[in-house]
This record gives sequence, structure tokens and C-alpha cells, in this order.
Amino acid sequence: MNALGLSRLLQILTCILLLTPSFSKDDRKIYIVYMGEYPKGVEFTESLHTSVVQSAISRKLAPDTLVHSYKSFNGFVARLTKEESERMKEMDDVVSVIPNRVHSVQTSRSWDFLGFPENVQRTNVESNTIVGVIDSGIWPNSSSFTDEGFGPPPQKWKGTCHNFTCNNKIIGAKYFRLDGVFAQEDIISPTDTSGHGSHCASTAAGNPVRNANLFGLGLGTARGGVPLARIAVYKVCWTNGCEATDILAGFDAAIMDGVDIISLSVGYAGVIHVEYFQDDFAIGAFHAMKRGILTSQAAGNWGSNPYTMSNLAPWIISVAASTIDRKFLTNLQLGNGRIFQGISVNTFSPTQKSYPLIYGGDAPAAGFNSSTSRFCRENSLDGALVKGKIVLCDGYTPSPYVGFASGAAGLIFIFPSTAPLVVAEVYALPAISITASDGNSVFSYLKSTSNPAATIFKSYEGKDSSAPYIAPFSSRGPNMVTPNILKPDIAAPGVEILAAWSPISPISGVKGDKRESNFNIIYGTSMACPHVTGAAAYVKSFHPNWSPAAIKSALMTTATPMNPTVDLDAEFAYGAGQINPLKAANPGLVYDAGENDYISFLCGQGYNSSSLQLITEDKSTCTSANKGSVFDLNLPSFALSTPRSSHNNVTFSRTVTNVGSATSKYRATITAHPSSLKVEVVPNVLAFSSLGQKLSFTLKIEGSINADLVSFSLIWDDGTFKARSPVVVYVP
Ligand SMILES: *[C@@H]1O[C@H](CO)[C@@H](O)[C@H](O)[C@H]1NC(C)=O
Ligand SMILES: *[C@@H]1O[C@H](CO)[C@@H](O)[C@H](O)[C@H]1NC(C)=O
Ligand SMILES: *[C@@H]1O[C@H](CO)[C@@H](O)[C@H](O)[C@H]1NC(C)=O
Ligand SMILES: *[C@@H]1O[C@H](CO)[C@@H](O)[C@H](O)[C@H]1NC(C)=O
Ligand SMILES: *[C@@H]1O[C@H](CO)[C@@H](O)[C@H](O)[C@H]1NC(C)=O
Repeated sequence: MNALGLSRLLQILTCILLLTPSFSKDDRKIYIVYMGEYPKGVEFTESLHTSVVQSAISRKLAPDTLVHSYKSFNGFVARLTKEESERMKEMDDVVSVIPNRVHSVQTSRSWDFLGFPENVQRTNVESNTIVGVIDSGIWPNSSSFTDEGFGPPPQKWKGTCHNFTCNNKIIGAKYFRLDGVFAQEDIISPTDTSGHGSHCASTAAGNPVRNANLFGLGLGTARGGVPLARIAVYKVCWTNGCEATDILAGFDAAIMDGVDIISLSVGYAGVIHVEYFQDDFAIGAFHAMKRGILTSQAAGNWGSNPYTMSNLAPWIISVAASTIDRKFLTNLQLGNGRIFQGISVNTFSPTQKSYPLIYGGDAPAAGFNSSTSRFCRENSLDGALVKGKIVLCDGYTPSPYVGFASGAAGLIFIFPSTAPLVVAEVYALPAISITASDGNSVFSYLKSTSNPAATIFKSYEGKDSSAPYIAPFSSRGPNMVTPNILKPDIAAPGVEILAAWSPISPISGVKGDKRESNFNIIYGTSMACPHVTGAAAYVKSFHPNWSPAAIKSALMTTATPMNPTVDLDAEFAYGAGQINPLKAANPGLVYDAGENDYISFLCGQGYNSSSLQLITEDKSTCTSANKGSVFDLNLPSFALSTPRSSHNNVTFSRTVTNVGSATSKYRATITAHPSSLKVEVVPNVLAFSSLGQKLSFTLKIEGSINADLVSFSLIWDDGTFKARSPVVVYVP
């Protein structure tokens, strides 16, 4: 998955990095050796890990073999040969040995669009809430992070700042690069050279900044969901991507320092499906959960096909990206006077009345031909032919590098007819994306005249009345690792989000693009994730003692339903729907879960007592009593994978906790569903007599489906509060 937006750029960089494996003086590579929890009563010491390494390797231990030891869980980073890593895997106390891998990083308007105005009621606790952001660092001088009006850090805070001047807003700042390999552009400190980390941190918890804009675009107040909260940053993403070893170091430090919520707009640089304890994100988030810290993670930018999600652990809240009602529109005028409307984030105003227009297919660079240069991909255009001209390109090439080096005056991208015109990109030169049918008209014009000409104007804001819907890039479920657990969990704004930026990073990400800005407008599930982080922190500020699962439940059961006729993947695109932070602070009921619930889930997932005891360091056992079905995990969502037309008879068990009114009577409603399914809630009335009281019920589904996917909702309603859960039955 990826820290997105600028993600595309980082994806490219990541590919380069994967092709040239970093740093290897010999045939040893870097591995994470994960050993679960520290044994009870055993204090962390480095010699503990040194002796583990020594017993697995025959050679004399080189001083650089043990690279790093984690403290909040039992694990370390070591340089090992392939054989040594295999031997390590066989050791009794070792849960998994994970090769280091490179992950990638995947406004003003968005919080208002969610019905969460600046002046919402806030509690005193908000300023004691610490949002941990594991990303590319932070831009220290941004007005989103000044500390006027902030008192000293909360007393519980144990974090520090490394090579960075913190203040009372940014109260923690650390960086991790365990392999010690830096690129020339890297600043070796928590300072953000990319802009991504600052963007995410300000969306979650940035101060309100009036008149924020990108060269006039998106003008408004930029603010985070919890502007009074403190920020702690853990820089793990560098010019060459984000390494697994460093991500776990970020989690480890955030847990030890005492953050309240972790925001993780980072993910796999591609789609991969690994078991939970082979997955550095799931491992970090599991140990965070044990300490009461919820992790909010970007779903990934690998949509729009199904099965494109990689972060699937149920203790994480996985966030899809939805649109808001603001769009950035751009006009294109042809030499014949015709005007077309397209999209892009184009900050350039034309300096000439018009520019010559040329088709990319007519300007191949050496080594390319018409059928390859028509896409205008990197280096495919002949500079001598396109210099000073606007180039018409077939298809959508999301690399912001395109055309810049060749000296083109602008780019027109013709979207394929199947691709919705949704994502407006920041390019390093004037650019616009237009529909396939408009593209045909522009192409006909270009071929019909000897001196075709065009002008691309600066973008302006428009309204998108069909919002919210899920962006095409947002990764989709189902869940490959546990088919009967729904993913993603929830959706939040992730398209064209204005937030803080590092002015040393070009807004298009392209070297040589001279536009500096303290704000940028970008897209990605990376931008959606910190909206959920902010909302989760808001909920936690009202309910400081709620578990991560309770906070996740509150966000999901109060989410605004989205439209399956617009998003055909339905819940596999948007989970429970679009977050509603105000409602989430008062959900009425929560589906709570703690470590023991996850243990039962893991037993059902195929873990056995001996593997689980390492992870939990207690007497956890998988018995017939708790080795239930994975779908009995107490989540506020229900998923059932079934062969087509095959008869099902399943019973989901759930327990809800009353957090609304002491005395209340909730009735269950099931929304419309196909007649081929019999759906029953038992009991269908839950009468509570006190706060904190727990009552159980079952949801029975009997019958078969013919469609690929049917979904409906279970709603518990007491007349004041409504807790809605998505129910999905699908054919894998
Ligand atoms: C931030 O601002 C201070 C004071 O204006 C300045 O000394 C410092 O160099 C700036 N830092 C960066 C990274 O620009
Ligand atoms: C600060 O950076 C210097 C090199 O730039 C490094 O030697 C030092 O260890 C760093 N300090 C901390 C606390 O990270
Ligand atoms: C153009 O180049 C591509 C890739 O090099 C090649 O596969 C294709 O056959 C070429 N097309 C023509 C018309 O020469
Ligand atoms: C438990 O699982 C591990 C890893 O899958 C396996 O190596 C081990 O043999 C299993 N133990 C038992 C008692 O089944
Ligand atoms: C479905 O399962 C329940 C027990 O869980 C059983 O009582 C019932 O008869 C089953 N129905 C069918 C049609 O198999």
C-alpha cells in the first residue's frame, strides 16, 4: 500500500529501490526477527537478543549483526544470511522472520463536508490527547504546528525530540533509519523533506490556519480534526521509501512514549497478502492495541480492482478514500474557440494567448514510435518537436514528471472511457485531464487544421453534487487473509485535500518545479487516514478509557451510509460508510473487543496455543471453547464468503455494550435484503438497565445468493441512538 498522493512518485522511487537492493557488503540482508511479547518478568536487554542471534548462527558474531532491539515487544533487527534466517525461523521462541521490505507512503473543505464544523464542542481532554504520526516527518515551521496557547505536554508523555526543536504542539519527534543508508536529499532529522508527513499530521491534528490555499486554489481555513491535540512524529519514510524495520521502530517508540492514537498513511508498495504475524504493520498495531492505542491505516492506493487491500488485521481501522463536494476544474480552449472543461490542479496561468497543439503520437523521441509516444510517458516525447507546445496524450499517466523535461508548454490527457474523471493531479506544467468523448473532439480538431492551437487555463473550484463516492485508486476488499472479516472498515475524504506542506518539496514532487508552498492539494488513502485518526482522537477525548475496538466501533456504527448504486463494490469499497465524527462521540452502543477476543479470533485463523503464547506471553490456549469461527470476533460488521447458490446456515455472535442512556430499549432492524436469504436477529430487542451493561445477540443468515455480492444493514435503534452495521454476503 502506499502513502499516497505524492504516492505515485514514491511508488516509482520504490520500484527503483526494489530493483537495486540497498546495502550489502556481503550476502547478509536485514531481517526483522519477531518473538512476540517479552516473557513475563523479563526486562528488555540487548544481550537477550545477542544470545538469540548467537545460537542461530555458526560464525562469530560481527559487531553489526544485531542492528536494533525493539522494546514494546520482543523482537529485533539483524543482518543475516539466507541460511541463518531459515535457522532463526526454526527456533522455538521465534514467531516470524520478516525480510526487510520497502513500503511507500500512499482541507479546508473536508471537515466541513463531514458536518464537523470548527466550533464543535470540545473537551479539556483534547489537549492531553497525543496523535502519533508514523510518516515522513514534519515541517517544523508550518503555521499548522505553532504552539501559541498550548501549555506544556501532558504529564503522561515520555517522548523526546531527536535533532529537532519541539514545541508544545509538536511534543515528540524521532527518526529511524536502522540500515543507516541515506539518500543525498534526505535531511537526517525528523524534518519532512517530502511534505507527506506534514500533510497527514495537519489533517489529523493541525491548528486552524486562515486563508490557507495553493496559489489561490482551495482558499479557506485548513485545520485538523483535533486542533487542540498534540503531535508526535516518527519519521520512517525517506527519499527511497519506508522500510519495515523502521516502521516497527516507529510503532515501538510511539507505544513507549505514550501516544493515544497512531496514524499510518503508509503501506505495501503493491498488493500482497500475508498472515498477520508476518506483517510488520499488523505486528506493530497488535502491540499498540495491547497498550490501548488504536492504529488508523490507509487502505492503499491499488484500486479499483477487488482484493487490492493488504492491511487486513481486524485490530486496525483501515480507511478508504472518498470524494468531497469540491472539485478542481480546468478549462481548455482550442484555436477554433471551443472550450472544454476537464480536471486538474493547475496553478499556472497562461502567459500567451495560445500555444501550438501537437499529438503525442506525432512526436516520438528516439527509441519510441507513434503507438508508444501517444501516451506521453516519461522520456517518450521528442523535445525538439514538443518544446513550447501543448501535447495531446492518450490515457492517463499519473506521473507528474511527464512532459516537464521535454520542455512542453502543457499536457492534455484523454481519460479512457472506462475511467471516471475523478482524480485531479498536480503536474509540473500546465495540464488537464478530459473525458474520452471530449478527447475525440480535440483530436479531430487537431487533425483538421494545419496550425492547431490550444490554451490551458488556471484551475478553479467547482461543485461535485454526487459526492461522496469512493475514489478509483482506493484499494478494495474482500479480505484475502480472513474472507469472513470485512475490509476496508470505513471511508473518509482523500481526494483533493488541502493541508500543510514542506516548502522545500516541489508541489508536484518534480525536481526543478520551482513552485514553493506551505500547503498542497493532494489525494490518496494517505489523506483519508488522518481524517479517521482525527475523528478517533476526538472520540477518545470524550471517552479516554475506551479501548481501540470501542473507538473503532463508534466510528463505524455511526458512519453515514454510502450509495451502492454509485460504488458498485459497495462495502468492499467503503466499509461502514463515511465517517461522522460528531455522531461517533455518542454512539449509544459499542462492539468492544480486547486482547482475548483477538486471541480467539487468531485460534480460529489457525494459530495454535504454542504460537499464540509467544505473542501474548500468558497461558493463552486455543480450546474448543474459544477456537470459534473468525466471524464471531466482536466487530461492528459482518461478512460471509459463500459459493454461489450454495446453502448457508450461519450464526454470528455479538455482544454490545451500552454507552448511551442508562435505561434504554434497542430494537433491531434489518434493511432490505434478497428473499433468498432469511435473516434473523435473536433477541431482536435489547433492554438495558445501566451504563456499561453488556448484552449479547446472534445474527442468523440462512439461504443462498446468486449475485456476486449482496449487502444490507443491521440497525439497533433506541429512538435516540442508532448503531448500524454493514452485513455483506459475497461469492469470492
Ligand atoms: C524555521 O524558522 C526559524 C526561525 O524563523 C529559522 O531559523 C529556521 O531555519 C527555519 N527552519 C527551517 C527548516 O526552515
Ligand atoms: C543528530 O544528527 C547527528 C548527525 O547529523 C547524529 O550524529 C546524531 O546522533 C543525531 N542525534 C540524535 C539524537 O539523533
Ligand atoms: C512500437 O514500439 C513497440 C515497443 O517498442 C513495439 O512493440 C511496436 O511493435 C512498435 N509499433 C510499430 C508500429 O512499429
Ligand atoms: C503450532 O504452529 C506452529 C507454526 O505453525 C507449528 O510449527 C507447531 O508445530 C504447531 N504446534 C502444535 C502443538 O501444533
Ligand atoms: C440451521 O442451523 C440451526 C442450528 O444452528 C438449526 O437449528 C437449523 O435446523 C438449521 N437449518 C437448516 C435449514 O439447516
